Parts: sequence; C-alpha cells; structure tokens
Amino acid sequence: TENRLLKKKEISAKITFIDEESAQSRILIKGGKIVNDDRSFFSDVYIEDGVIKQIGNNITIPGGARTIEAKGKLIIPGGIDTHTHMQLPFMGMTAVDDFYHGTRAALAGGTTMIIDFVLDKKGTPLLEAYEKWRSWADSKVCCDYGFHVGVTWWSDKVKAEMETLVKEKGINSFKMFMAYKDMFMLHDNELYESFKRCSELGALAMVHAENGEIIDEKSKEIVSTGITGPEGHEQSRPEPLEAEATNRAVMIADQANCPLYVVHVMSKSAADVVAAARRSGKVVFGEPIAAGLATDGTHYFNKCWRHAAGHVMSPPLRPDTTTPKYLMQLLANNDLQLTGTDNCTFNADQKALGKDDFRKIPNGVNGVEDRMSVIWENGVHSGVMDPCRFVAVTSTNAAKIFNIYPQKGRIAVGSDADIVIWDPTATRTISAKTHHQKCDFNIFEGMTCHGVPEIVISQGAIVVEDGQVHVTQGIGRYIEMPPFPEAAFAKFEHKQTGPIKIDREPYDGSVAQLPQSE
Ligand code: URP
Ligand code: ZN
Ligand code: ZN
Ligand code: ZN
Repeated sequence: TENRLLKKKEISAKITFIDEESAQSRILIKGGKIVNDDRSFFSDVYIEDGVIKQIGNNITIPGGARTIEAKGKLIIPGGIDTHTHMQLPFMGMTAVDDFYHGTRAALAGGTTMIIDFVLDKKGTPLLEAYEKWRSWADSKVCCDYGFHVGVTWWSDKVKAEMETLVKEKGINSFKMFMAYKDMFMLHDNELYESFKRCSELGALAMVHAENGEIIDEKSKEIVSTGITGPEGHEQSRPEPLEAEATNRAVMIADQANCPLYVVHVMSKSAADVVAAARRSGKVVFGEPIAAGLATDGTHYFNKCWRHAAGHVMSPPLRPDTTTPKYLMQLLANNDLQLTGTDNCTFNADQKALGKDDFRKIPNGVNGVEDRMSVIWENGVHSGVMDPCRFVAVTSTNAAKIFNIYPQKGRIAVGSDADIVIWDPTATRTISAKTHHQKCDFNIFEGMTCHGVPEIVISQGAIVVEDGQVHVTQGIGRYIEMPPFPEAAFAKFEHKQTGPIKIDREPYDGSVAQLPQSE
C-alpha cells in the first residue's frame, strides 16, 4: 500500500503539472450527442478531476471550466484496445512501438486504454514476468492500461502463480497458445488443466487458436519446395488450421466449464466456429482485430518483399478478400463481440531477419492508432453497424468482459473521463508518413476513413486537440481487473456441473483372470 500511495502522489503531482499547463481539469462539453452501447441522446457532459460529474442539459457548473462546442459531434467512451504487444521481445527482436509511443499513438486514434500481454519465455515464473512488464509499462504509459498474462508453459508453480496474479495483481485473463511449437505452445491436456484453473479463479481463458503441430510440418514442406518468401507464411498455416484449433479450444473449454475468449479471429471459418458455439449456449467470445477487418492476405503475394513481410502476423490475414466484410458483419450481429489490434510492430530491418526464410520474419502488424477509424469506416460508414454497436465493439464490451464496467466503457456520471469527441463526417487518410506510431510501415496505407477523433480526453485531461497530441509519459494508471466478470461467469453460477454417480449393489458374480505374463 505504501508503494501505491507513493504512486498516487506521483500521479497527482503530474496531474497538477498538467492543470497548470493547460488549466483543463474542469471541462464542459456542450451540444454533442452522447453515444453509449445501448442508446444515444443529446446532452452536455461536465468533467472534473478525471471523472464524469454531470450529464444533462442546462447543468450548472463551477467557474473556471473550459467549454468545448460539440455540435454535430458524437461523445463516445474512449476506445479500449483489448490486444496489444508494446515493446514485446519476440522472435529475437523487440517490437518498436514501446509503451510510450504505442500508448501515445493509441490516444491519437481515440483509444484511451490498452490491455497488453505479459508474455515471457517458457520457464519464466509468471510473477517475475508480470513485475518486469509492470516496470516497463509504468514508466512509459500515457494512458490507462491493464494486462493479460500469457501461460507459455505448464507446471504446479504456474498453477499457483495464476492464483496470486488473480487475487493480488489485478489479472483476470490468461492467454494460452495452440501454436508456436517449442516456444509457447501447450498440449491439449495442458490446455484443459489451465482452463480448469481459470474457471476456479474466475479468470477468462484466452486462446491463440492455430494447430501448431501441423503448421510446423507444413512450413518445413513449403520451404522444401523452394518457397521462402512471405507467401509461404499464409500457405503454411491456412484457414482450416485456425478453424480446427478454434473448435478444439471451444470443446476443451466446455469440458473445463470455463468461459473462452478467442483472440485474433482472422478467418471466416474460425468466426463461424465461435458463432456456432455461442448459438449452442457456450460462453465464447470472439475478438477480430483491426487488421482482419480492414485488409487481407493477398498482400503476401505482393512482388515487393518488404510490403509482403509487413503483413506477416499469426494467424495470418486471409487471401479470401471477402473475409474483412464477413468478420465485420458477424461483429455487427454479436456473433463476435469486441475488437483489439494485436499491435506488435517491427521495422523493415527487423522483418528482414526472415528475408531468406519466412519462418524467421518477426510476426506482427500495427493497428492501435487506426482501429477506431477503420472500424467506423468499414462498419458504420458502410452501413454494417450503427454507432451504438460501434461503441459496444470498440469499448463497452471490453469493459464488461474484463470487469471494469462502468468505470470504463460508458459515458455516465461516476465513470472515468476517458472520452472521445468523434467527428463522423471528417476524413483522414492513413499513412506511415503521418502516423504517430514508431514503426516504418502501416498496413492501412492510403485508406481514407470517415470518423476522426477530434478531441480525446484521457483521465479528464485533453490529450488530443487540433491534430496535436499532448501526453505525459508515465501518467497512465495500471487498472486492476477483478475476477468473475458477470458477462462471462453468470451462466456458470447456477449451472449443474460434475459427473453423475449411481448408487448400486456391488457386482458379486465371477471375474475372469487376466492371462499371466511370462
Ligand atoms: O503475429 C502476432 N500475432 N504477434 C504477436 C503474438 C501473438 O500471437 O499474439
Ligand atoms: Zn496470438
Ligand atoms: Zn511495397
Ligand atoms: Zn497477440
């Protein structure tokens, strides 16, 4: 607690600094339309000390508040990116967008909270990994953040540490891998054990669903036929391997009585598996990502090596060009629930580690800055989803599923003042030349999006205005996420579980003898 007090003091010192700088701790947003996941309405919003204090028309406010005119604009809860990998050490390299550049870019795009992954080498104690990631993040984050923890190996120690993480460290989700053989991959029995542990602790089991054994075989096969370029990446891990693993994860989670969260749903058939599982009553959530909703795997066949390698991630983007629209439709219909980005960026020279062998290209793409805009463009502007659903899939559902609602994910009195004033008619063309990310490539290069975050408010302070980003490194808070989110666990509360035992008279007839071995 002493540490926490100290941290709080540091934070308030930083907030005071910001107040003096811009005199913006009291803000009135006038004339806009509030959009929550369940309804939208015209109302003013008054913010003080990082919290939404009043909502209504003709509200009386203390003096010294700054008024923002929001006529024609939408007032939406700041985005929550459920899936990022800032400064991840991966495949020998470290992702270039660190917790500073990554969260700064997030804010620039209207995302006010990220949930990143503690993801260390197998064999590393989970608590040690957690402390390491906390120290990296706390000194750099510009917005609030939380963590999922990767379970990259299995043992009694891991099982015990999961409990400490849930009960003492604010963790309520663990990611298990069915791919990356010999690096992160768990076997089915270990998946089952870890899912059962999640179920006991009230944590979500997240899964990277791809068949790692077959990928290992197929990638050797493809290289042996002389295909070493990025086109080999997708062809060595095709769509059926994602759908099969997704189905296997659904089955194992069901046997373990555990809610399942499928991260980065990249294909139509994997999305269909999630949808079918939900329709049969299972508690399964599907997370498509910005990349999969706005671009496709035809880029792996691009003549330019760097361009093709820039799209390498796992599971890969799919060459079926009808995929993004299909995923968006399922997202609109609640067959899929929320969106992340899997933001994990590597520059040209880092990608070039795999110039002669696609298996060595560091996996990962951008997205944290552009997620909100590409979903508005391909979702709302194209007529597939309404603005309330946009808020649900970019913010509210994440807050509910990770149990931080309504602190996050809602414009309501008492909620955190993480707010975006969204201009639905303005446009912006995405480019690596103008983006705020540190990476030298953008998979959405040249895409023009309607929907621009005109003003972004994080912890009650204006951090984006007039196209300028004003952030303070290290000001973001670690948000503890409590176990047993209602959105995931309510169905299990009253469910009859456990095997059936029949009481009967013992068998008292004769018993055959097993043949004796010599
Ligand atoms: O390509 C990816 N997705 N890189 C990050 C690690 C992961 O699997 O999420
Ligand atoms: Zn993954
Ligand atoms: Zn190119
Ligand atoms: Zn990831």
